[in-house]
Order: sequence, then structure tokens, then C-alpha cells
Amino acid sequence: MSNIVLGIDFGTSNSAAALIDANGAMRVVPLDGSRAEMPTAVFFNQETHSVLYGSEAMQAYLSGTEGRLLRSLKSLLGSSLMDEYTAVGDRSLRYFDIVVLFFKELKRRSEAHAGQPLTHAMLGRPVHFVDDNPERDALAQETLGRAAIEAGFTHIACQLEPIAAALDYEQRVAKETVALVVDIGGGTSDFTVIRLNPARSAQADRTADILATTGVHIGGTDFDRLLDLSTVMPLLGYRHIGTGNRPVPNSVFFDLSTWHLIHQAYTRKAMHFAKELWTDFTDQTLHKRLMTALDGQYGHRMLAEVEAAKIACSVTGKDTAVHLEFLASALAPHVTAKGMEQALQDSIAQVVRCAQDCVVRSGQSTVDVVYLTGGSSALQPLVAALQAAMAQATLVSGNLFGGVAAGLAYAGSALQV
Ligand SMILES: Nc1ncnc2c1ncn2[C@@H]1O[C@H](COP(=O)(O)OP(=O)(O)OP(=O)(O)O)[C@@H](O)[C@H]1O
Ligand SMILES: [Mg+2]
Repeated sequence: MSNIVLGIDFGTSNSAAALIDANGAMRVVPLDGSRAEMPTAVFFNQETHSVLYGSEAMQAYLSGTEGRLLRSLKSLLGSSLMDEYTAVGDRSLRYFDIVVLFFKELKRRSEAHAGQPLTHAMLGRPVHFVDDNPERDALAQETLGRAAIEAGFTHIACQLEPIAAALDYEQRVAKETVALVVDIGGGTSDFTVIRLNPARSAQADRTADILATTGVHIGGTDFDRLLDLSTVMPLLGYRHIGTGNRPVPNSVFFDLSTWHLIHQAYTRKAMHFAKELWTDFTDQTLHKRLMTALDGQYGHRMLAEVEAAKIACSVTGKDTAVHLEFLASALAPHVTAKGMEQALQDSIAQVVRCAQDCVVRSGQSTVDVVYLTGGSSALQPLVAALQAAMAQATLVSGNLFGGVAAGLAYAGSALQV
């Protein structure tokens, strides 16, 4: 009997897993309660000395439980930080060990769903973990594989995330179709032009059908950062022209608005530096707010509120308040459709250029379908920009969160790693 291969989409924001069961049916694993997507988050609860994962980790953190939250771990793959130790409660762990803990939990939950041990995994990887640095990119993939092995998988293989997304979409096409598969997640935007044909679905090697792949290291977490910087951080002093007619130093604001760097703003050295900044401010209210945010370690909370407002504004098109009452009562800046378009326009243009570049490299004059997957592929100004750039093609919205994992499961069963 062949082994079940668990398709694992280790995402910047969310992870998902899927498998082809003994009857040949694809099943997306309900990794987080009934949901397929499990926030890629680990929380070390200092009150109970327990470790929480996924939405439980986010909830504990956001409700103010004492402890340490780690998110966007994928962004650290390929960086030297992976081997560095970090304080979590009363212990010190390497970031790598925390990735292993997350994989162990994902494996445990998948096994509980499958009702059997799972030893084989097909891991997704973005087109680029790290832009323009092949060594670090290779290191990131090697580290990802090593973490899966350390978590207990004995057989692993890798597949590009956009190819996996395409393999999932292929289940829905009836005839030969040239598709631009767009996967825009939390950390990266990946593109593939692929020739799809259900008659070739079961082939293990689809290299001949992959006409081009491109990717850029821009995703929803970058949109969160840009929106945080444009709507919230000015209330803490970002771009404040202070004493001597000089803007106040801005590194603290960049740390606070970048998911995987927030913790750096709370080190003793950074806190000391921020405290001393008061002499640079002419408006002390702003500096007080900055210190409240740092003392309360509100970075993740603020950014989570910005992210929620981004999604709500994208879905409804309406002005949406960013709730910051925990920082100062009656403080409710808004994310607006226009403001979002302005703050994100350069990043969106880069993403669209990368999509167009993929089509050019494929040698096709146009594609039949643009298939959208990944949470950020639902972002309204991005959808509008893509549609404008690919006017001839039909835009098809896919499974935002489980599609890559499903495709990895198909790839795994075709390959039998
Ligand atoms: N309706 C929506 N509109 C806009 N953005 C959204 C929406 N829903 C989710 N997002 C964003 O999608 C991102 C998460 O998407 P997804 O789970 O596909 O990413 P990921 O797989 O973790 O990341 P990556 O593939 O880059 O590693 C988050 O940044 C989130 O804010
Ligand atoms: Mg993804």
C-alpha cells in the first residue's frame, strides 16, 4: 500500500495541510477547529507556562495574556536569525526550534484527523524565499526540510507553491487551458504560467507544462506595514517634525509595523533609545503614546487591528475604523479605500509587473485564465490592478486558503515521495 503524503503549506500568515485519503479523495485537514487555515503563530504563555498554536495563540496574545507571540516565522527562514536564541518565558529557544514545534503541532493535528501516523510530507515553497540571494534562498528551503524532519517526518519533498495551486485548479478545468496562477499570501506574491489539462493531472513530472514562474517578496504583511505606517504610526510620532525642524528617528516605527521585527522594539536597548527620544519631539502627546505602545507591548495588537481594518475595507469598500482604544480612548483612525490605494500603490504596481513579467517569460501573448489564490488575492485594489493589466483574461477566484495544500497533496500522491 502506498503511503499517505501530507501536503503542507507553511505560510507566512497561515498554514494549511491536505491529503489524498485511501479512497483517492482529497481532504483539506481542518487544522484549526473547523477551519483549514491555522495562523502560523506560536504563543508562549507565561501565566500557565504552556505553548499555544494557531488561533489559540493569537487569541491569548490579543486578549492581553502575559507571554511571547511569534508570527511570520517563515520570513526568518534563510536568515541568520534562525540559529539565534530568543527568550520565551523562562526559557531560551532557537527560532529554528520554534519552527519545529509548530511543525510538530501541525503533524499532530493532521494525524488526529487522518487517524493514522503520517511520515511523508510534500512541502510547499515560494518561488523566492529571499529575493536576489540564491544562497540564502537555498538555505531557507534546506531549513524548512530540516524542521519537518526534526518534527518527525521521515520522507519529504518540495514543490513550488504556485505550481501546487495550479494543480488544485486543474481539477476544475475541462480542457487544455493556459493559466496564470496568482498566489498572493502574507509574505510573497508568486506567479506561474502553466498549461493545464486534466488528462495529465496524474503525471508526476509536469515540468514541460510549466511555462514560467516569477515571484516577488511582497504580500499582505507588507500591506499591513504600509497601512500601519500611513494610518497609525503618525499618531505615535512617525514623520513628526520635531525639535530643530528634524523628523524624529523612524526605525522604531518600522520595527513596530513589521510582524517579525516587532519584538526588536521591546529590547532594553531599543526601549532606552525610544525613551530618550522625548527631546526630539515637540508634541509630547505623540511621544507618550509611543511609550504607552512600547511599555504595553502593543505592537502585534495594533498591527492586527490594522490588518482587520484592511480586510474589512477591502471587502466592504467602506471606511473602517482601526480600534486602538487600548492605546488611548477615542483614538480611531480609519482605513479608507482611497487611503489604501495610495499607501499600497507602489507595492501593488510591483506585484502586477511581476505578474506581467511571468506572462512575457512564458512566451504566450496572453493567457486564458488568471486564477487567484492566497488571502491577499482578494485585496480589492490589487484585483482591480490585475484585471486592468490582463484585460483579455478571465479572472477566476479560487480557494483562498486551502488551495496550495490541496495541490501539494495531489503532487505528493503523483510523486509518491
Ligand atoms: N479578504 C481579504 N482581503 C485582503 N487581504 C486578505 C483577505 N483575507 C486575508 N487577507 C490577507 O491574506 C494574508 C494571508 O494569506 P495566506 O494565508 O494566503 O498567506 P500565507 O500562505 O500565510 O503567506 P505566503 O504564501 O506568502 O507565505 C494576510 O496578510 C491577510 O491579511
Ligand atoms: Mg501561501
